[in-house]
Amino acid sequence: MTKIKRTLVTTALPYANGPVHIGHLAGVYVPADIYVRYLRLKGEDVLLIGGSDEHGVPITLKARNEGITPQDVVDKYHSIIKQSFADFGISFDVYSRTSSKTHYETASEFFKSLYDKGEFLEKESQQYYDEEAGQFLADRYITGTCPHCHKDGAYGDQCESCGTSLNATDLLHPRSTISGSTPVQRTTKHWYLPLDKHEAFLRQWILEEHKEWKPNVYGQCKSWIDLGLQPRAVSRDLDWGVPVPVEGAEGKVLYVWFDAPIGYISATRELTPDWEKYWKDPETRLLHFIGKDNIVFHCIVFPSMLKAEGTYNLPDNVPANEFLNLEGDKISTSRNWAVWLHEYLLDFKDKQDVLRYVLTANAPETKDNDFTWKDFQARNNNELVAIFGNFVNRSVVLTQKYYNGVVPQPDELQDFDRETLEGIGVFAQKTQEALDQFKFREAVKEAMNLARLGNKYLADTEPWKLIKTDAARVETIMYVALQITANLAILMEPFLPFAAEKLRKMLNMGQVDWKLCGQKQVLQTGHSIGEAELLFQKIEDSEIQAQLDKLQASKKANEAAARTANPAKENISFDEFSKMDIRTGTILEAEKVAKTKKLLKLKIDTGLDQRTVVSGIAEFFEPETIVGRQVSILVNLAPRNIKGIESQGMILMAEDADGRLDFVAPQSPVKNGSEVR
Ligand code: 2FM
Ligand code: ZN
Repeated sequence: MTKIKRTLVTTALPYANGPVHIGHLAGVYVPADIYVRYLRLKGEDVLLIGGSDEHGVPITLKARNEGITPQDVVDKYHSIIKQSFADFGISFDVYSRTSSKTHYETASEFFKSLYDKGEFLEKESQQYYDEEAGQFLADRYITGTCPHCHKDGAYGDQCESCGTSLNATDLLHPRSTISGSTPVQRTTKHWYLPLDKHEAFLRQWILEEHKEWKPNVYGQCKSWIDLGLQPRAVSRDLDWGVPVPVEGAEGKVLYVWFDAPIGYISATRELTPDWEKYWKDPETRLLHFIGKDNIVFHCIVFPSMLKAEGTYNLPDNVPANEFLNLEGDKISTSRNWAVWLHEYLLDFKDKQDVLRYVLTANAPETKDNDFTWKDFQARNNNELVAIFGNFVNRSVVLTQKYYNGVVPQPDELQDFDRETLEGIGVFAQKTQEALDQFKFREAVKEAMNLARLGNKYLADTEPWKLIKTDAARVETIMYVALQITANLAILMEPFLPFAAEKLRKMLNMGQVDWKLCGQKQVLQTGHSIGEAELLFQKIEDSEIQAQLDKLQASKKANEAAARTANPAKENISFDEFSKMDIRTGTILEAEKVAKTKKLLKLKIDTGLDQRTVVSGIAEFFEPETIVGRQVSILVNLAPRNIKGIESQGMILMAEDADGRLDFVAPQSPVKNGSEVR
């Protein structure tokens, strides 16, 4: 086993095309920051690397829509994002960006090194070209009619209506979104990373040698590898990005997912001339903190790039989180269904730690989780204020009142005092063990348990009553309470850095060290502490209601926008309507259609016959849960071939503005074959 001397922690580079929200903080940046603060307290050599991901087609689309340059877009959001992270105490050693000069050089060199070693495949393919605009079109720059559901507005990579993934060349009536003209197919050359070549290595390295990775990460890697890996294009025909540094590659840039992870290297390089020590020395441990949508890139693609380059370390762990939802709904930038970090601080000034705490206590570590404002309020009022804040305040205020702020000499310890002092070590140990395993929810819970212990100790011993009858006993009680308080000032630092700093100042503690955590004497008798300051304040119902109202307003605005975007269709005659033969039916069998995400193959009893229908509902319904359900089915729709299956009819579904689907079905069972009119 290699001895570990230092740790390099990277955090997913957020796209600089919008501000960051609570989902970003909960999934990646708070856990990474907690971990790094913990290692720093232990005196370890650790770097926290971050930056903005400034390439990719969505940024160019946004720039085009707003009539500004991509550089304008990323300049604006890079500074907003950077500020938000600083405001929330995410203690980056460097926060860089992928439009930096160093990044262009680093990414080019990296590509060149793989190119020179013959690590890429060069392949020609047919791609759409806009002759008016004079450029090749990325998939999202092409729309047309879906060859499957025949709806217009499908993109070059996917039809959002029926969910089928497409090749741009499959689209009927393709149009360029840049000029509106019909694109032509032209031959273009790209470079591919042959992931298939790395498959055996990845199988051994992840599936055999990293069984300790989180089950969600390991499981995703396993399914990717088991499905078989394909070569992936690492270049694009685009004019925004790092130019492909080889001859004959004019007008081509590195694919954003090729250059973005190299951004971690560039940022380290900007930070220190010693950067190679952090990337190449086997005594350095590399950790990637990411969200679940980035797993394949950090566990499969980037490691294959690093392995092919040959001189870099591979990640030791990738503690990816699942997603955070907001009030029961997916966080969405376009629907403004989010709590934006810069807006939060306007409404909850100086309450960074409250959000950090709630997002950690409720982190989506093993499954998607929900953020609700009620839970936010409850955790603040019942935990931070009533337990941690209350305990600290009592112990500091009483020490000031009884001993002029000087830590007293304990009298004889009773069993209860000794047990309580033992408890410090127990909770410190449990916190540490959880942190070492990237279990941040558990870690913060154990740290809070120490505050609980302190709160209970004071509530049980009631020094404010004893002071009149047994002053010597109170000296012991306050001594014990102050040791817990001082321990909390260290133990809480990774989670609640703002409150912990305030507390250290209150206690006159100066520099602290994790080694003190769990010790029964952190503050010596005779040490002077400062004045009490409230660490947390109660959050009122009205403040929570204001946030809920804000979300409600977003919802209303979205519904209104959906109505305008989806106005009623033209009138039709009754005869036209009557041509549709809609019947009630029952689902007899349901199964997923192989190699598709959204399609289910259903067998339906229509009352007329039993027939097969392919329906794009797999994202919303597990096949086994819908067998036996009644549905409405259009039975006289001409049969269509979908993914090689003849679909005989269409199930009627209601689709809301978010694309969520539900069955249109009778309220109570009716005979199959009944007409729907
Ligand atoms: O998913 C995202 O937001 C990407 N911008 C993450 C990139 S992580 C890394 F590779 F830079
Ligand atoms: Zn379609």
